[in-house]
Formats: sequence, structure tokens, C-alpha cells
Amino acid sequence: MAEPAPRVQRGLEEVVALESRICFIDGKLGRLIYRGYDIRDLAANATFEEVAHLLWYGRLPNAKELAELRARLGALRTLPDGLVRLIDSLPTDASPMDVLRTAVSALALFEPTETKPGAGAIAGAERLTAALPTILGLFQRRRAGLPKLAPRPELSAAAYLLYALLNRDASTLEERALDVALILHADHELNASTFAARVTASTLSDLYSSVTSAIGALKGPLHGGANERAIELADQIGSPDRAEAIVKEKLARHERIMGFGHRVYKVEDPRATILREWSRQIGEAKGDLRYYQILEQVRQVVHREKGLYANLDLYSGSVYTPIGIPKDLFTPIFAVSRVAGWTAHILEEYEDLRLIRPTAQYIGPLDLPWVPIAKRS
Ligand code: ACO
Repeated sequence: MAEPAPRVQRGLEEVVALESRICFIDGKLGRLIYRGYDIRDLAANATFEEVAHLLWYGRLPNAKELAELRARLGALRTLPDGLVRLIDSLPTDASPMDVLRTAVSALALFEPTETKPGAGAIAGAERLTAALPTILGLFQRRRAGLPKLAPRPELSAAAYLLYALLNRDASTLEERALDVALILHADHELNASTFAARVTASTLSDLYSSVTSAIGALKGPLHGGANERAIELADQIGSPDRAEAIVKEKLARHERIMGFGHRVYKVEDPRATILREWSRQIGEAKGDLRYYQILEQVRQVVHREKGLYANLDLYSGSVYTPIGIPKDLFTPIFAVSRVAGWTAHILEEYEDLRLIRPTAQYIGPLDLPWVPIAKRS
């Protein structure tokens, strides 16, 4: 008797693929933990650099370690001339995610790519985390006709990113809003892009190849790309009083509302709760609460009609747009932050290496007779 076919877990839903010490999500209670620390405490108290240290080294840095990390990241902002020339040669109408993916892949050509566990791989993690804002800044400045980018090592990661993209110094509120957004995006267990990074790393491929895989996965609208679509919806709605009718029409057409639903959270994504408050604060400071108010209406309608909760991607654009960040940079900014998590996971993969290679249940034909080409219809 033939053995019963194994149950296929489409999308690997609920499959526990590996053990990790980096990130814990409690989808029922809506909790997110980085290495033991609740995301709410980190968003209220930490900086992105502290969180990156926590993810890579497994513990919060002391003051000296943090100062040293900030100095290293500041020094690593400058890119090799060859890569700068390459970025300068890319079409200015290219998607910034494509630019990021290409530039990260190309960076490996100009630098030794370390694949082994230990100091070399951690140095690669720091290098990539420092390099991503510069890559985006070079591209954005060129297409926007802004002056040359300086490394500004004295700036925090958040302030440097804003300076790189906008060529101005951020206000304290803007810097903190971006810092919190970077903290919230830094890691999220085995999301699709992190899994892509770990699959590549599990073949003993190098860090840069693994991060290149991750950027490709993040780009899709069901993952990082949802943040752009959420702000497009808010723009289409235009004013809070129009939200209900437009959202209901979309739901009636069985359209997905970007920024809602999650594979793991069965309640509201705690990152969305935190970012919603920043969306309100930034809106108030800029004297324009339109995005906040529209998204509040959208949130209520989607929850009432479909029982779905907001995820992080609903709010990032409503924090970035009032600061002046163009829409097509939202997902690249997600990558600027998530690279800390991707690389932490790649380092963990190197330390506990097991080739990731699931199987498929074959549902095609067997034993077809060979047909010579002349006899094929
Ligand atoms: N809008 C409308 N309906 C939705 C949405 C949504 N955003 N999300 C899920 N649903 C519905 C589905 O249509 C489906 O309904 P059905 O059973 O009647 O067919 C049901 O809810 C279950 O949806 P699945 O796609 O099976 O759930 P899954 O766990 O695979 O999806 C996902 C998770 C991909 C995030 C989904 O909720 C979605 O497409 N959301 C919109 C994109 C988005 O916001 N992505 C960001 C994710 S978080 C991040 O990357 C930071």
C-alpha cells in the first residue's frame, strides 16, 4: 500500500524551521522581543545603534562600546570609488530597491567577502549597515540634483540617513521619529527576507550574497513593499470622510488593503501601535494630521469589515512623508534598518549551520513515454 502523502504546509505556515536566540514574536499577545527586550522598551529608550549592537553581539552595549560602535559605523560610511562610479552610472529612473540590491552585490566586488563565523563576518555586518544609507543617499542626491554627500561621522544613523536623503539637518523630533522607525524595523524573526538571507547563508555563501537575496525578497508588495502601497491608498482617499466608502469598495472587489494582516500576529502588530503614535506626533509638529486621520479611518473600517489588524507598513509612510522622504524610499529605508537583523541572522546561521533545503510534494505526471521531436504536436 502506498504511503499517505505528507501534509504540505503552503507558504511554510507554522513550520518551525530552526532555533534562534535573536527575536521572539508572540502573535496572540502582540509581543515582539529582541534578545529578551520588549520592543516597547527599546522604542522608548534605545537608539538604532544600540539595537544593532544588541542583535549582533547578543547584549546591550555599555557607553564605551556604543561610542566605539558609532565611531566604526561613522568611518564605514564612505564607499569605494568604483562603487560610487557604478551608482553614478545607474539610470536615475531606476527603482531605489533595485539600486540597493545592485550596489550591495557590487560592494562585494570591491571588498573581501568574509563567510566564516567570527570577527570577519561581524565586520561585514557593520560595513553593510553603515553602507546602505550612503548608497541610497548617493542615488537620491543624484536624481534630485542635490550637492555631494559628506560622511558626517558625528551624526547618528538616523540623522545621517535624513541628511543623506534630504541634504539638511533633521530636527530633534524628526531624528527621533526615524530612530524609532529604524528600531521597529530592525528584526522580525523568520520573515520572508530574513529567511531568504538564511537560506543563502546556509549554503556557506558570503554575507553580501545573503543580504542581496534578502533585499530581493523585501522588495515584494506582500512584504516590505506594502508601505508604499499604504500611502498610495491614503493619497487616493485624500480626506478622512472618504475613507469608509473607498475601503468598502476595495473590500467588495476582494482587493487586499496594504498594511493590514499578518502571518504571525493575530492581534495588532505592536510596531504599528508605536508608529501610529509617531505618525500623530509628526503630523502635529508639521501642522498636517491628514495622513494620521485618514489611516485612523481606514484602520477602523478594515477592522470592522474584515477583522484584520494594522501592521507596521500601514504607518511608516505617514511618518516619512511629512518629513519630506519620497515614497519610493520607504522600502529601502526598511532595508537600511532590517540589514541589522538580516546580518544577525546570517551570523547565527554560520554558527549553527545546517543547509536549508525543504522538499516538495510532486503532483505532476510520472512515466510519460518519450516522444521524438518530429512527432510532437
Ligand atoms: N486585505 C484584505 N484581506 C486580507 C488582507 C488584507 N491586507 N490580509 C489578509 N486578508 C484576507 C485574505 O484575503 C484571506 O481571506 P479569505 O480567507 O477570505 O481568502 C485571509 O485574510 C487570510 O489571508 P492570507 O493571505 O491567507 O494570510 P497570510 O498569512 O498568508 O497573509 C499577508 C499575510 C501576506 C501579510 C497578508 O495579510 C497581506 O497580503 N497583507 C497585505 C500586505 C502587507 O501589509 N504586507 C506587510 C506584511 S508585514 C511586513 O512586511 C512588515
